[in-house]
Amino acid sequence: MSIEQLAETAQAMVARGKGIIAIDESTSTIKKRFDSVGIENIEENRRAYREMLLTTPKLGDHVSGAILFDETLRQKTADGTPFVEVMKKAGVIPGIKVDKSTHPLAGCPGEVITEGLDGLRDRLKEYYRLGARFAKWRAVINIGDDIPSGTCIEANSHALARYAALCQEQGLVPMVEPEVIMDGSHDIQTCYEVTEAVLRSLFGALYEQNVMLEGTILKASMVVSGKDCPEQADVEEVAEATLMCLKSTVPAILPGIVFLSGGQSDEKATAHLDAMNRIGNLPWPLSFSYGRAMQSAALRIWAQDMKANVARAQETVYARARDNGLAALGQWPG
Ligand code: 13P
Repeated sequence: MSIEQLAETAQAMVARGKGIIAIDESTSTIKKRFDSVGIENIEENRRAYREMLLTTPKLGDHVSGAILFDETLRQKTADGTPFVEVMKKAGVIPGIKVDKSTHPLAGCPGEVITEGLDGLRDRLKEYYRLGARFAKWRAVINIGDDIPSGTCIEANSHALARYAALCQEQGLVPMVEPEVIMDGSHDIQTCYEVTEAVLRSLFGALYEQNVMLEGTILKASMVVSGKDCPEQADVEEVAEATLMCLKSTVPAILPGIVFLSGGQSDEKATAHLDAMNRIGNLPWPLSFSYGRAMQSAALRIWAQDMKANVARAQETVYARARDNGLAALGQWPG
């Protein structure tokens, strides 16, 4: 795979006014989402739910790609069309979550490491064959008393970089996601310092593993106050701190940065992205790769009647895509 092709895919992922919908919840994560609205976590419900999302009319107007879970990449609509075909027709690039989730990091209490490197080359070969053109790997960094440790940051950066190099070898654009978790009572300054250390370490590791940044997308967490911090930074402060942190750590050659929502409300996730793009004057496009902040409203509607409410749920998906697409241009609410 040439770097030109990888770069082309990466640029298409962050095309003007477009972002990514993350629907790559593992079977255990989707159970939590389904439990919250009283839906049984069986394969047919997962398939029907993802069909509702992926067949949203005009999804491709504001969505460039969708991240799927292994099971979803292999599924079809009720009329037998592979999801991948539906996506290609809609102009939505298929992506695949390839990590095998987080596990306790031995020797580092309270910290986790993302696993999934063993056998990854063969899995990537198959995913490419099935139609995926980009991949995602999520590392998790917790903030707390005396954490994160340098050991945890370095171990996760190393894994992200090994994953990214393997993706590029197999023709998939790696989306590298080091998520600094919002849980905790820390202030925004602490989040800034941790995020800065994590991104410095990540880009050092990517360099060491010969990852081509032109064919890589960063999925970043925003610099925010901890959920339980008594002093909550406002939208402007979050936008300014996040931009400062990214500008001091992320090389300009990267094709783009997308954000996770991480438990922010729908409105906040959109407002933060919009505020950053209004400040503007940045070396890379900034867009969204939201999971919960794209889906939660639609899931609630769909759960009330999984057949009759499909169109109404899809209208909500479209509205969230449109809002976040405008925010990616600094033009929300339009
Ligand atoms: P959230 O936007 O719900 O944080 O999910 C994005 C994601 O893909 C996390 O890995």
